Amino acid sequence: MTQGYELLDSGAFQKLERFGDVVLSRPCAQAVWRQTLSPIQWQKATATFFRDGGNQWRGRERLPGTWEIQVDGTRFQLSSTDFGHLGIFPEQRDQWRRIREVCAGFKKKYGRPARVLNLFAYSGGSTLAAALAGADVCHVDASKGMVDWARKNATLNGLEEKPIRWIVDDVTKFLEREHRRERSYDLIILDPPSYGRGAKGEIFKIENDLPPLLALIGKLISPEPLGVLLSCHTPELTPISLHHLLLQQFGAQGTLEQGEMQLRGAAEVLSVPSGGFCWWLA
Ligand SMILES: C[S@@+](CC[C@H](N)C(=O)[O-])C[C@H]1O[C@@H](n2cnc3c(N)ncnc32)[C@H](O)[C@@H]1O
Repeated sequence: MTQGYELLDSGAFQKLERFGDVVLSRPCAQAVWRQTLSPIQWQKATATFFRDGGNQWRGRERLPGTWEIQVDGTRFQLSSTDFGHLGIFPEQRDQWRRIREVCAGFKKKYGRPARVLNLFAYSGGSTLAAALAGADVCHVDASKGMVDWARKNATLNGLEEKPIRWIVDDVTKFLEREHRRERSYDLIILDPPSYGRGAKGEIFKIENDLPPLLALIGKLISPEPLGVLLSCHTPELTPISLHHLLLQQFGAQGTLEQGEMQLRGAAEVLSVPSGGFCWWLA
């Protein structure tokens, strides 16, 4: 059975979320407010993840090895990792919807698929959104395990025969190579971590490495571009910071639209701000 995602409650530095039949309580630094549900309801969580005293799960034995959920019609395989991640960032949901819209609109307007580059692509939510809207996608991540996971998600969604290039590489090295090959892309998506490592241990520190990465992206954007979507979870890089970075790189042509990503549940449930995004739409 495949079911969806729902934020159930948050507060006291925790969030309570439902992923299909599985309910998880995990740390959440943003949730400085008080919890709405009773402690008894929180204790019913299938499993709880802690960061105090090192990363650990309580009740992990109750979790399936892998399970599947569906978010806005897209299927994702989930699994509990040692870092508390599950293979999905549901706060990207609005961006996935928008990617589908702009890629479908591009195909209608130009009569050809948009060429989309997805960087730091993780388990492939943005890759799936673009491919489902008929785009040609190049998916780049330094971790072979994550690329394999994304390919599994593509297969779950019947996309295994679609034009998706799967690349295990350091983002900067790959972009430099693509520039030498004179490749270009209509839409470039990037969700960089605060700190990451490339396929050969190359260190990525967002505050130093994001501006030169955007300059490189500027060289790879096609002559009839759709745009750039930049998102991150780094607390210092607010939506306005992301706006300024894209404004300096791409100028005032087109539109810039920024905001906070949010985890959401039923109407009465307080949403949880989870990082920022900015679109430059040419
Ligand atoms: C989606 S991003 C970060 C997600 C989220 N914004 C966060 O901060 O937790 C994480 C992904 O980037 C990949 N990654 C990290 N450094 C990288 C690099 N230098 N080149 C390519 N991929 C990298 C990781 O393997 C991981 O799948």
